[in-house]
Amino acid sequence: MSIERTLSIVKPDAVAKNVIGEIYSRFEKAGLAIVASKMKHLTQEEAEGFYAEHKERPFFGDLVAFMTSGPVVVQVLEGEGAILKNRDLMGATNPKEADAGTIRADFAESIDANAVHGSDSAASAEREIAYFFNDNEICPRG
Ligand code: PPS
Repeated sequence: MSIERTLSIVKPDAVAKNVIGEIYSRFEKAGLAIVASKMKHLTQEEAEGFYAEHKERPFFGDLVAFMTSGPVVVQVLEGEGAILKNRDLMGATNPKEADAGTIRADFAESIDANAVHGSDSAASAEREIAYFFNDNEICPRG
């Protein structure tokens, strides 16, 4: 397994619940370092561009509306096998199907308000990190 980077988002529902720190703690306890971080209130355009691959899906409008409903925290996680490790920490997309102890099982209410996003592949991670961060905003651990 190699050192990877992945893009993670704490979604508006989790920000509103005041659990940013608890979610960050799970990343760090799992050996993932937060090497870039920012809080943003996404515009409609930013959310539509980020989720462009889903634009034909029936839930696209709801997803964009939810992601622009309040601030999010966007971060780059770095570590051994970071992409899969983060997906494991998150749990299944639908919190009702998420394993006990995962972020979504513990903090998410529904499939549309599901607490966190994480890149699902190396190609997505590269695109999604570049979508939110310039190279000079990322501080690798040496
Ligand atoms: S995945 O893991 O990306 O393959 O999941 P997928 O099922 O393809 O869902 C893609 C994103 O859409 C969100 N989603 C929904 N939003 C609103 N309503 C419904 N019904 C719905 N179903 C899926 C899901 O949370 C994924 O968002 P991200 O931010 O990628 O996790």
